[in-house]
Amino acid sequence: MLKLAVLVSGQGSILKAMIEEGLQISLVIADRECRGLTIAKDAGIPYELVLRKDFTETFDRVDYTKQVLAKLRGDNIDLVAMAGFMTVFEWPMFEADAYAGKILNTHPSLLPSFKGEHAVADALEYGVKVTGCTIHRATIDLDAGPILAQEAVRVLDRDTVETLWERIKEVERTLYPLTIRRLMLA
Ligand code: GRF
Repeated sequence: MLKLAVLVSGQGSILKAMIEEGLQISLVIADRECRGLTIAKDAGIPYELVLRKDFTETFDRVDYTKQVLAKLRGDNIDLVAMAGFMTVFEWPMFEADAYAGKILNTHPSLLPSFKGEHAVADALEYGVKVTGCTIHRATIDLDAGPILAQEAVRVLDRDTVETLWERIKEVERTLYPLTIRRLMLA
């Protein structure tokens, strides 16, 4: 059985869905204090806070990446699922002897449309009538790795960023755990 780690920064509703789906999670890592950490604690899952104190342009992304990498290696993690993790990793994570091809992400748009952290707002602003979510392998190029699964969500006339994002997350909460389970069994 592959050892799975989940990385969070925020609400952790997708982490919660993974737990409820019965996925075996060996480690949760957060880059800040967040509800996702509390969910891990409450579920009795080992967790680590690799605190990102620096949000300026001088943030040492390579050093931070190495700190997270050390935790993953220390626990012999095989597969990493980012679930609302808001720090972008640098090259040490994507080396062949690190986690190349073994990091998954869920993104709240139909990639390659609307990459980046404002995906839902950007889709709404553009006026698309259909958006959705994408489960993909993360690579050094942000939101551009091989796609594993996608599902569409219709945009309603009355949608705000909040209402649209919540409907996208509802889909992510089912599609992401299922995709991970498929990979873990393969
Ligand atoms: C998801 O929409 C994910 O695609 C995005 O952040 C959200 C995480 O939600 N990157 P939560 O913290 O699991 O509730």
